[in-house]
Amino acid sequence: MISCTHSVAFAGIDVLKISIEVQITNGLPSFTIVGLGDKAIAESRERVRAALHAVGLSLPANHITVNLAPADVVKEGTHFDLPIAIALMGAMGVLEPESFYNYLMMGELGLDGTIRPVSGILPASVAATSYEMGFICPKEQGPEALWSGNLAIVAPHNLLDLMNHLKGTQLLLPPEPVSAQSTQTSFLDMKDIKGQESAKRAMEIAAVGGHNVLMVGPPGSGKSMLAARLPTIMPPLSTQEMLEVSKIHSVAGLLKDGQLVTTRPFRAPHYNASTPAMVGGGLKAKPGEISLAHRGVLFLDELPEFSRQTLEALRQPLETGEVSVARANSHITYPSRFQFIAAMNPCRCGYLGVPGHECPRAPRCAQEYQSKLSGPLLDRIDIQIEVPLINPWQLGQLQSGEDSATILKRVMAARAFQKDRFTNLPISTNAEADGRILEQVANLTDEARAQLIHVAEQLHLSGRGFHRMIRVARTIADMDQSETILRVHMDEALSFRKSCAKGEL
Ligand SMILES: Nc1ncnc2c1ncn2[C@@H]1O[C@H](COP(=O)(O)OP(=O)(O)OP(=O)(O)O)[C@@H](O)[C@H]1O
Ligand SMILES: [Mg+2]
Repeated sequence: MISCTHSVAFAGIDVLKISIEVQITNGLPSFTIVGLGDKAIAESRERVRAALHAVGLSLPANHITVNLAPADVVKEGTHFDLPIAIALMGAMGVLEPESFYNYLMMGELGLDGTIRPVSGILPASVAATSYEMGFICPKEQGPEALWSGNLAIVAPHNLLDLMNHLKGTQLLLPPEPVSAQSTQTSFLDMKDIKGQESAKRAMEIAAVGGHNVLMVGPPGSGKSMLAARLPTIMPPLSTQEMLEVSKIHSVAGLLKDGQLVTTRPFRAPHYNASTPAMVGGGLKAKPGEISLAHRGVLFLDELPEFSRQTLEALRQPLETGEVSVARANSHITYPSRFQFIAAMNPCRCGYLGVPGHECPRAPRCAQEYQSKLSGPLLDRIDIQIEVPLINPWQLGQLQSGEDSATILKRVMAARAFQKDRFTNLPISTNAEADGRILEQVANLTDEARAQLIHVAEQLHLSGRGFHRMIRVARTIADMDQSETILRVHMDEALSFRKSCAKGEL
């Protein structure tokens, strides 16, 4: 007789249903797992054998074959331990097939039969719901699985509890839901930053339109502070977005205590980060920093210090909002629609143009430093601003500027105005609008258009650069609740590009 259970394999955050078939036939004693499993699955034999022993069962001295179907899909991870053990129990006649047939299951087994946490619980339980199946997962991860809305979740602590539950001798209680948020409160606020009014204005525009920002300025001017506070003025995640972001974090094994990600992610990888760590990939093709920053902020501090290869790898995801990771025989796609915020000093010593800090190597020092950034990457950054050193008297002032809550109210109002325009389109911010959509919705006055063309000629703006200016101007007009882009909006948009273009960048 063949006994069958179900689990999942992952391709990015997409889920593929896997059947685990077990057959016990007469022959020399053996225990074989086939179906393109990785090393962890091969080792699963020993864990399953020990876990069954822990519940008082020993494997029959027969020929045991486990097949993971479809057999041509590469499978990896320790979460197949539990479905293999349950399928074996079915084949041994310990459990009735009907008791477990309509469940997807995941879990790693300890030698004592404990069911241990694994990654990817949330997307798998969402898939179980869509297949109209129940879901069995480790006890600690029951609350995480509950977010899928699946009503048939079983979260046992160990194999014995699950066995008794499936036999009907000792029913397990359903997992307790946990409330969203709680652990993720931020103590950062825009009012911590004194002065820097134009940089704060740029951040507000970026928050409204979803634009990428590059900040250039001397050390200690507040660039990292500004970036860290951007999520506090970004609109909260919608429920749909929370699930989307949490699925990625679940696959990466980063969801803790059954909590969903409820605030916009802020990822600030160090410049030593390798390209796979940044874009995803490596041994298990886990999501990289750019996918963990999905729907949030990716902050690269000291931008020119990142390796050229890493920076160039950002170009495609910045454009498309997703990243394709190459595997040995396939490609995995992860979403990566993040807001890119970068900061850098104008030169290696950091004080280009700051009185009292003349550098003997200027301006070559600055040219060499800035040449590490490629034109195509800079072309993808809508807003490029200078963040000058702040006066000591400004720093010494006690009163600070607006707080994040006040700015957020304005951002929300402008976002609502912006969103109305995209009701029938698959995008929600100006930064996502491509050239074609932009032509339809921009609505420039003749004066604004003439000014744009004039400056574009002077700065030799690329086609992409031209559209990016319209996009920023559209956002500034949205903040004014204006249907048309006026000259004043265009002037402000161009100032963000011009300031750095006339400098060395
Ligand atoms: N505008 C400001 N308001 C209040 N504090 C400030 C301001 N600018 C700088 N500071 C103080 O200086 C510290 C350093 O700021 P921050 O790390 O943001 O500088 P930075 O521009 O990122 O410098 P670097 O180029 O060295 O990374 C902050 O922790 C804060 O204490
Ligand atoms: Mg910094």
